[in-house]
Amino acid sequence: MVAPPAAWKRASGAGFVVHVDPVQESPLAFALSVAAGLDGRPRRLDARFLYDAVGSDLFDRITVQPEYYLTRAEDQLLASGARPIRACAGFGTLVELGSGTSTKTRRLLDAWCAAGPAAYVPVDVDLQFLTQACATLRADYPMLAIEGLGASYDRAMPVLADVSPKTLAFLGSSLGNLGWRAHTEFCASVAGALAPGDHFLIGVDLVKDAARLEAAYDDAAGVTAAFTRNLFARMNRELGTDIPLDAVRHVAYYDVERERVEIFAEALRPWEIHLPALDRTFRVARGERILTEVSHKFRPEALVALVERLGFRRVWSDVGDGTFGLFLFRRIATPALVGRLPAQGDPALLAPLALLGEMRARTLELVAPLGEADLRQQHSRLMSPLLWDLGHIAEFEEQWLLRDGASGDGEGALYDPLATPRARRDVLALPPTAAVRRRMREVRHAVEEKLAARPCAPGMPLAPAPPHLISLVVQHEAQHQETMLQALALRVDLPYRPAFVTASPAPTGARPCTDSVLIPAGPFLMGTNDRTWAYDNERPAHEVQLAAFRLDREPVTNRAYLAFMRDGGYRRRELWSDEGWRWLQESEAQAPQHWRPGPIAPAERSRGISYGATAPAEWHAVVFGRPTALHPDAPVVHVCWYEADAYARWSGGRLPTEAEWEKAAAWDPARGAARRHPWGDDPWSPGRANLDQQHLEPMPAGAFAAGASAYGCQQMVGDVWEWTDTWFNGYPGYESFPYKEYSEIFFGQTYRVLRGGSFATRASVARATFRNWDYPQRRQIFAGIRCARPA
Ligand code: TRP
Repeated sequence: MVAPPAAWKRASGAGFVVHVDPVQESPLAFALSVAAGLDGRPRRLDARFLYDAVGSDLFDRITVQPEYYLTRAEDQLLASGARPIRACAGFGTLVELGSGTSTKTRRLLDAWCAAGPAAYVPVDVDLQFLTQACATLRADYPMLAIEGLGASYDRAMPVLADVSPKTLAFLGSSLGNLGWRAHTEFCASVAGALAPGDHFLIGVDLVKDAARLEAAYDDAAGVTAAFTRNLFARMNRELGTDIPLDAVRHVAYYDVERERVEIFAEALRPWEIHLPALDRTFRVARGERILTEVSHKFRPEALVALVERLGFRRVWSDVGDGTFGLFLFRRIATPALVGRLPAQGDPALLAPLALLGEMRARTLELVAPLGEADLRQQHSRLMSPLLWDLGHIAEFEEQWLLRDGASGDGEGALYDPLATPRARRDVLALPPTAAVRRRMREVRHAVEEKLAARPCAPGMPLAPAPPHLISLVVQHEAQHQETMLQALALRVDLPYRPAFVTASPAPTGARPCTDSVLIPAGPFLMGTNDRTWAYDNERPAHEVQLAAFRLDREPVTNRAYLAFMRDGGYRRRELWSDEGWRWLQESEAQAPQHWRPGPIAPAERSRGISYGATAPAEWHAVVFGRPTALHPDAPVVHVCWYEADAYARWSGGRLPTEAEWEKAAAWDPARGAARRHPWGDDPWSPGRANLDQQHLEPMPAGAFAAGASAYGCQQMVGDVWEWTDTWFNGYPGYESFPYKEYSEIFFGQTYRVLRGGSFATRASVARATFRNWDYPQRRQIFAGIRCARPA
């Protein structure tokens, strides 16, 4: 059943086999891990050391405490779910990670054995528990073949890759003990060990009220407290420390924002931790807290999105009364692709399904925190209700991958304006959210069937998935993600932060500068001839001759924009164009959209985000529903073209033309060729630009030196869209493709071109040739300013 490398030891018991990883952790590892954790800030200790023999016994007792509802809730779901799970998952080997005593697994084993012989592979680092569990199960399940793996998850995973078909179970909400980033990494490693058709069963605790959660992690009998304290007792036993255990207080705290229980050891009086093996001493102050474990709580939709993006499809789930959730996923994409999905590339060489799946996963992650009302309501006349976006994403996919587009040459495909009621979305009756979600799934299933279809007779070619149509559908969804974020940013009453967004502070080392770079006179090649990823309006590549000019190295910052405001920027007629002045009179704008006068109100301070003393006090902003201090060095955002134009005039410059922008961003004078991105042709990575919704705000000027263009301009791509002086029009030789409504009907002196992409733009659409356009008065876009100046 299991074929571990030859070096693994084989310890046979009565009627079962246990394979033991010969690589055992060095005795020093514990001490080193403690030292590393205490050197860190905040201090923490690695939770896996909680589980020695004493700890594992205590943990078993936790699971039967009245406050610890998790184990009972999961058991109930398994009791009713085992049969349907088995029916969905088929007859594969049941593999369990972190099997412990295997008590919770019995419901599954009952179902697995009901129809005849079955196989079970428990995986656990604790050999004693593992062997004991195997022996007990042997007696109770005579039809069951049992082979244990005594190894860490990491080490076991490659061995498990060869077991197929299988269902890999990860129960007890252990996924929540890994941290958000690690969730993805862990699930990706599971994905790598699963073949298409294999299954992944996860049991996780769900987000709920703090009181119930905190009680579960601080039971009245004090068992959880003893569990935490045992970590320190273990250090005393194994590392020779002398920690006064009566001064270790167990604290369980639910962080509502991060949706996780944090478990700490708090020092009731000062202690010292002396590690003789390393000859190091750590002082712990009275009241200081050392983090020993986190237990993340999940939202079903977010979890499903996270796993599905890795090439899985949910096939069954049960969240009971909302306490705890069980989810069964089927692996659908090839493991080889996992973890190697580039932000963009030739979809003919990539799995189209993986591209589509990744994009859909993010869409679902974006809407996961939103309720029915949030999805249905149209909060601004400018934007659709988010539910419309969702339905339209499905319609568009059906249009291009299931109907005309995919079967024909794409050219003659009739485009049904009713499927994209851009002008009619306010009069549409929206179906219930559940129906829209179902529709999204149904269309996707049909697309998967179609793209994954095997030839039904030898020699019959596969129905090709035209790469440009895959990329059209993928990019279309990406762009809707950004408009959905624009709509959410207008909801000043709704604090919004999806789970995948990095809460981390701005990258350090940012040094804003105010200079500009010289772009010498000369021709360059604008646009592209790429027919796979580029849109019709980016084609064809054509030579453009430009005079010398200077372009600001960085986008205009809040600091600079405030100087413009203080200098009467919104009052001085001479700074504004006629149209701009009219807009100003009508809108009565006094600052960028979402700015509010004064500092954050004291009552709102706890919700707010502050950058400390450096933030200006005259204004703050509401960023995705949270009062937020203005970072003086961050690019100004949410200005319209008129404001950008007035600012540029005030600063002694002007807005660049679109061609100037593209030359400064993409032209590599040394090579005499255009780069795909300012930094080169390599795909985007987080250090190069603030893209892909990693942060939901711009990062300070100077934060992405690694993303500079050949001429030295920074943050050309990402952070904020940049208004240009150019009306949206076709390039010389422009041809509509695949339909007029994508670009052509917008040409003329109506829309201004925006370039570069924002923090909310997916990396797969952020290329140096990409063109965005909007009315000059629009401020909902994540748009800012960069000025051109005389050479
Ligand atoms: N997987 C369990 C959970 O997150 C682990 C756990 C329960 C735990 N109680 C604990 C870990 C107390 C540390 C301390 O619920």
